[in-house]
Amino acid sequence: MPSQRIGIWIIGARGGVASTATLGLLAMRKGLSEPTGLVTALPEFARLDLATWDQFVVGGHEIRESTLFDALDRLRTESRVLEPAVIDACRAELTEIDSRIRRGSLTGCGPTIGRLAGEAMRPLAEEPPRDTIRRLQGDLREFQQATKAARVIVVNLASTEPVAVQSSLPESWKELDRLLEESARVPLPASSLYAIAALDLGMPYVNFTPSLGATLPAIQELAEVRGTCHAGQDGKTGETLLKSVLAPMFAARNLEVLSWVSHNIFGNLDGQVLDDPAHKASKIKGKDALLGKILGYAPQSHVSIEFIRSLGDWKTAWDHIHFRGFLGTPMTLQFTWQGCDSLLAAPLVLDLARLVELSSRRGETGVLSHLGSFFKQPIGLEEHKFSQQYCQLLAWAAERAQ
Ligand SMILES: NC(=O)c1ccc[n+]([C@@H]2O[C@H](COP(=O)([O-])OP(=O)(O)OC[C@H]3O[C@@H](n4cnc5c(N)ncnc54)[C@H](O)[C@@H]3O)[C@@H](O)[C@H]2O)c1
Repeated sequence: MPSQRIGIWIIGARGGVASTATLGLLAMRKGLSEPTGLVTALPEFARLDLATWDQFVVGGHEIRESTLFDALDRLRTESRVLEPAVIDACRAELTEIDSRIRRGSLTGCGPTIGRLAGEAMRPLAEEPPRDTIRRLQGDLREFQQATKAARVIVVNLASTEPVAVQSSLPESWKELDRLLEESARVPLPASSLYAIAALDLGMPYVNFTPSLGATLPAIQELAEVRGTCHAGQDGKTGETLLKSVLAPMFAARNLEVLSWVSHNIFGNLDGQVLDDPAHKASKIKGKDALLGKILGYAPQSHVSIEFIRSLGDWKTAWDHIHFRGFLGTPMTLQFTWQGCDSLLAAPLVLDLARLVELSSRRGETGVLSHLGSFFKQPIGLEEHKFSQQYCQLLAWAAERAQ
């Protein structure tokens, strides 16, 4: 492809996943890191006209007043991941990206996320949603102009919002647009305001979180109306990834799953927010729902997520699967997954930016359902088996190979 600049605008730009993805991008560009963990670095994607790492420029929205360097340094000291030499080598670029991070929105984020916010967010506490959308769009336009980016991909990596209540919202974009114009109190969370701001400007929106984002029918319609695309939701990086690999095995061998118990413990900022039951409910919904859809019946299941501060970014998931085999014999599979949360998620964020950028350049609109393998709750896709989802991605890639 011609060497155009491509913007990645990250919501939650100084979080664990965001700062790791940003560092990874810079480190690969400098030749300091291999593309291990990146799906798009596989030979199956080599014939796609994907953007290269040196084409990307990063900016974003945040609510906390810290720096990318501090976020990475905390990961290094508290979680004992990342090489100090790599962070130091990228310090100048990280500082430059920091200067492109703007104040986000706290609408509908609840008091737990509100407590993370810095003083600069205070004057925006009562901002009506329409004004928020205009302000966010101003930031996006300014970023695109300043960096001369041909396209900007907006990726939501902000803290998980509480479960959104939006039963009274209109289903069509025209009506939702009118409501936003007329009312200062529309029950849309920040993730949806970010989605509207991006899609309305024709910029693709990726929701890597379980928050509502672009899932409402009216917002999905907006993407179509503006001829742009979106994908989501909630990155599938660890324990749920394994569920979507193992559950099809039980189904294919006609082994009856009696119960599936999943305990997750970790201690990063995401875990701190998810410790609030209102936020945890958003996450658990996605981690649990796929079992019934894959197996065709719903075994007894239990998902717990506990915040254990000393573990930092290291997540341990212990799953206990009780199943019945021939002649009614009960058996057990247990697994323990010990992954570093941000390091698992970051390469997928970069993959999504590349793949969505290509779709956008090729004029693909609406939900990008071929990206379902990246998500716990894939929008626009009923298929939850990982291998099938991955086959869909490969088929999409084969059709576009050059
Ligand atoms: N493996 C993974 O880490 C993984 C997998 C799937 C999904 N996710 C989701 O990705 C998101 C990011 O995870 P993380 O570990 O980086 O979390 P994090 O807490 O480290 O980072 C979130 C960042 O978002 C910022 N933020 C919160 N609300 C905001 C708002 N309304 N606008 C702008 N910024 C806001 C916070 O200040 C913080 O810097 C979470 O929602 C998480 O559930 C992560």
